[in-house]
Amino acid sequence: MSVSPDLPIGVFDSGVGGLTVVRALMERLPNEDILYFGDTARVPYGVKSVETISHYATQITEFLLERKVKLLIVACNTMAAVASQAIHDLSPVPVLDVIQAGTQGAVNTTLNKRVGVIGTLTTINSQAYVHTIQQADADIRIHSQACPLFVPLVEEGWLDHQVTRITAIEYLQPLLQHGIDSLVLGCTHYPLLSPLLQEVVGDKVQLVDSAITMAEQVESLLDETGMANPKTTAGEHHYFVTDVPQRFQAVGGRFLGRPLSNVHVVNW
Ligand code: DGL
Repeated sequence: MSVSPDLPIGVFDSGVGGLTVVRALMERLPNEDILYFGDTARVPYGVKSVETISHYATQITEFLLERKVKLLIVACNTMAAVASQAIHDLSPVPVLDVIQAGTQGAVNTTLNKRVGVIGTLTTINSQAYVHTIQQADADIRIHSQACPLFVPLVEEGWLDHQVTRITAIEYLQPLLQHGIDSLVLGCTHYPLLSPLLQEVVGDKVQLVDSAITMAEQVESLLDETGMANPKTTAGEHHYFVTDVPQRFQAVGGRFLGRPLSNVHVVNW
């Protein structure tokens, strides 16, 4: 497969959450074309088995590779946690994922080497963050917490709601008792809760948003490999979803911070 700089970047997630990564990419790399895949018919992945998630991840990877992309970004922490190897094995183009990015962010941020990680049940049970962070710095102690209620609360739009605040206190209190100074938002939906989470953890704890680190990593990789898109016009963005584009457009617009167009339904 011949890969050229004018090909788009493929980004995928289980649903709308990965648009937080797309948003960071659009801000940092406005000339790049993006193909986004959101598996809105089968979301949430965070409560499914490793086998099921790997099967879905393989299908999405093949779909984007058939459309010719120069780089794949796994914007879903759950897929990155359990299907990363399967995706790498299939892909002739480089693959970046949000767990590598979140790990880099955590290593750069922590001063006292006590890091909290929050994510879906599958991500936390996989221990993927524990392994990658400790590989990067064996002195860092990691305290993890699954926060399964956050995804539905974000989808509901309860970003600054009393119920979300009480839920966050319940989930985060044990991590705070371990004296963490950094908290990795290990799920695509959580950056939407950043203001509320920051309030709950206080200003001594830094939130690590892997979307921002991801955009930095993509920029470096494209520059180093001579694969940055040379065009000077704005990038084109297309969104492929597996169900109900109306809902995708409403919720997705909120994630992206701007209205969504070019939404296509994929019938598998
Ligand atoms: N995209 C998933 C993640 O980042 C959250 C939503 C889901 O459970 O599918 O872990």
